[in-house]
Amino acid sequence: MAQSVSFLLVLTTLLAFAPFTFGGHLYPQFYDHSCPKAQQIVKSIVAKAVAKEARMAASLLRLHFHDCFVKGCDASLLLDSSGSIVSEKRSNPNRNSARGFEVIDEIKTALEKECPQTVSCADILALAARDSTVLTGGPSWKVPLGRKDSRGASLSGSNNNIPAPNNTFQTILTKFKLNGLNVVDLVALSGSHTIGNSRCTSFRQRLYNQSGNGQPDYTLHPSYAAQLRTRCPRSGGDQNLFVLDFVSPTKFDNSYFKDILASKGLLNSDQVLLTKSEASMDLVKKYAENNELFFEQFAKSMIKMGNVSPLTGPRGEVRKNCRKINT
Ligand code: HEM
Repeated sequence: MAQSVSFLLVLTTLLAFAPFTFGGHLYPQFYDHSCPKAQQIVKSIVAKAVAKEARMAASLLRLHFHDCFVKGCDASLLLDSSGSIVSEKRSNPNRNSARGFEVIDEIKTALEKECPQTVSCADILALAARDSTVLTGGPSWKVPLGRKDSRGASLSGSNNNIPAPNNTFQTILTKFKLNGLNVVDLVALSGSHTIGNSRCTSFRQRLYNQSGNGQPDYTLHPSYAAQLRTRCPRSGGDQNLFVLDFVSPTKFDNSYFKDILASKGLLNSDQVLLTKSEASMDLVKKYAENNELFFEQFAKSMIKMGNVSPLTGPRGEVRKNCRKINT
């Protein structure tokens, strides 16, 4: 009896201190022993890329989102087409839009040199998203780590699960809820649109024919709409770029929420946060008023998004090249 009690004690003590890889838990110290320089290497390459082109911070932040909403945060987004794999890079939300893959490659190459087959591509995406936020003036957080990489991609998942800019508020919220995220996460994470660009094609409908009656979106400020129409014509110019936050397009701050209050949110999905739900309207107003509150919630919601169905322990693999599964 005493023996089995002490065995249980040893077991529970061991479990308490064992890395939680099998339970599917992620933790910030995951690479502390296996690759102590990992975070430093990611940060320096992201910093170099953002110094070269400020928009890269936005592009890298978005990659983590587009990864996590398809089969969880497993780097499925990074796979190129090959064999039976059809790349998610071809999906509607990603085609001619998702970018930053070369920066991820550069980070992976550096990490493979420092500690071969140790740091997953999914964790690189999570770290690069955090570093991009910090570099542009946003909040910091400890990134839980220990994700493994998938051995497959899902083009249909990418097309269907990532919200589209012309989705209704309800559809967007449902897509967040399917990932365990709520309206607070939706509003805070949409605050990412405080940096980065959008193509004309992603919001043209609002400028000319929002609801099929040949009229622009009445929730878009008329003179702002007129200004946008000069570079986003009825046809052509699909790839022309526009800043998502016209006040401070490369600074991570709460001006995105102020834009929305001024009817100058660029995407329909931005403006509906104010016009289609009382709960989200309250949050937009709060974040517009209180930058600190926005930053705190953004960090929490990023950690929550980063925890969407990770592969851990023996599930998945650490890819040697983020574009290909291991052979
Ligand atoms: C709420 C639903 C969302 C919708 C409908 C949406 C939609 C879009 C669209 C249409 C663009 C412009 C793409 C283009 O035209 O090439 C964009 C850009 C961007 N999105 Fe979102 N997004 C959403 C949420 C998020 C979230 C949760 C994040 C990050 C956590 C995010 C981060 C970004 C960033 C940073 C950019 C700029 C990227 C760049 O400049 O390369 N978005 N988004």
